Amino acid sequence: MNWRIKSLDDSLALAAKRGLHRSLGAFQLMMLGVGAVIGTGIFVLTAEAAQKAGPGMMLSFVIAAFVCAVTALCYAELSSMVPVSGSAYTYSYSVLGEAVAWIVGWALILEYAVAASAVSVGWSNNVVPLVERSFGIDIPAALSHGLYSGTEGGLINLPAVCIAMLVTWLLLIGTRESARVNAVLVSIKIVALIIFVMLSVPVMQMENFEPFAPLGFGGISAAAASIFFAYVGFDAVSTAAEETKNPQRNLPLGIIGSLVICTIFYLLVAAGAIGSIGAQPIMDAAGAGLAPGSKEMGAACALAVNSGALACSGEPLAHVLREIGWEKVSRLIGLAAFLALPSVILMMLFGQTRIFFAMSRDRLLPDVLSRVHPKYNTPHVVTLITGAFVTVAAAFFPVGKLADISNSGTLFAFFTVAFGVMALRRTDPSRVRHFRTPFVFVVGPLALLGCAYLFFSLSLYTQLLFLAWTVFGLLIYAFYGYKRSPYAVPKE
Ligand code: ALA
Repeated sequence: MNWRIKSLDDSLALAAKRGLHRSLGAFQLMMLGVGAVIGTGIFVLTAEAAQKAGPGMMLSFVIAAFVCAVTALCYAELSSMVPVSGSAYTYSYSVLGEAVAWIVGWALILEYAVAASAVSVGWSNNVVPLVERSFGIDIPAALSHGLYSGTEGGLINLPAVCIAMLVTWLLLIGTRESARVNAVLVSIKIVALIIFVMLSVPVMQMENFEPFAPLGFGGISAAAASIFFAYVGFDAVSTAAEETKNPQRNLPLGIIGSLVICTIFYLLVAAGAIGSIGAQPIMDAAGAGLAPGSKEMGAACALAVNSGALACSGEPLAHVLREIGWEKVSRLIGLAAFLALPSVILMMLFGQTRIFFAMSRDRLLPDVLSRVHPKYNTPHVVTLITGAFVTVAAAFFPVGKLADISNSGTLFAFFTVAFGVMALRRTDPSRVRHFRTPFVFVVGPLALLGCAYLFFSLSLYTQLLFLAWTVFGLLIYAFYGYKRSPYAVPKE
């Protein structure tokens, strides 16, 4: 059987021939990493995690961080060896062959594009109450929640649409400007989290951590699978490989550095939120946790008795500060989310366009997608198409479901990266590795197990959706990419 494996040297040569401008250094990459990572996960999905796990979500954060850390070590080795656009897609092409690469690239669409939609909706979740509270106006549900969001009266999420379109435009005008804007926004986000920790941690009460796991370890696993979204993005750094100076040194620094910074912040923020106002889930009469985003959950949250619950809030960090008496500061948190979450959307969209770019350059997608704009030096066609897709998804769907769907694609891609790094140690042991994953045959299997465990902790609905998406992608490959690929044998 011909696996159509593209050699690493071919990947590197092609990138050199049709490349993008190299302008990013280690610090900028770390900024891009943190810009991509801290976002809707911590600012919004903390409430969902509380509903699934209660205070045990602390453990969920640790589990998700651990899985990301072991995968990050694998990512760093591969990205330092193959510093070209396309992330897990490109690595798989070189290690596991074209068909697997296609499936990974296809899964990465879920990771990046759907995540961009999720964060757009998370942004809207923060901004709508901010505007309502600051200006005393009431924004109707029909304009602030999507048709399928589970919110009574929801039709189109207009704020999410606007932000997705704005970010698409930012990307169109060029990476350099985008990265600079990003650095300012990252600083705002970090300051907001520091303020949150400084105000919430001192009023922590240990009894708020009891009972620690009201829904058992199953709840903690489910929350870990969802909150995993909060860490997604560090790998987006690797998609900027072709635009990085000295990628052999800077990529691993960017990836691992950004993950460490984010993990520290998340644990502090989660502890502050739980310890200050409690994080018990809303239960039904039979003592089972209600599903986040469901009608039943909406009805329960409308009751006065639950109005202060962390699990009921669409903007949990701002909510916590209001509950502990910092109303004005809580608006600043909302404002920070307003200003900074777009940097996450930017990185997700950026990652997506670069993956499409790489897939098109390999002829698995139409050539027009890898066209580079003569003035801005950006892949403008693919940026516009991706932006349109992201905008539509953001308009109609709820953040939690989008995040879970995104996680399914990400976990699959991470799984192949972990597998790939080990396979390459065997098949190409003498190649220079500027970064070597320490104890790769311990770290690699841990990453594989961790990704599988989180994937199967997602809802069955999400798992099935992922399966359907993969089958759909395989059909496209069979009828399009397979024939156009440079490895296709020409017909006589
Ligand atoms: N990690 C990113 C976020 O939480 C995707 O928004």
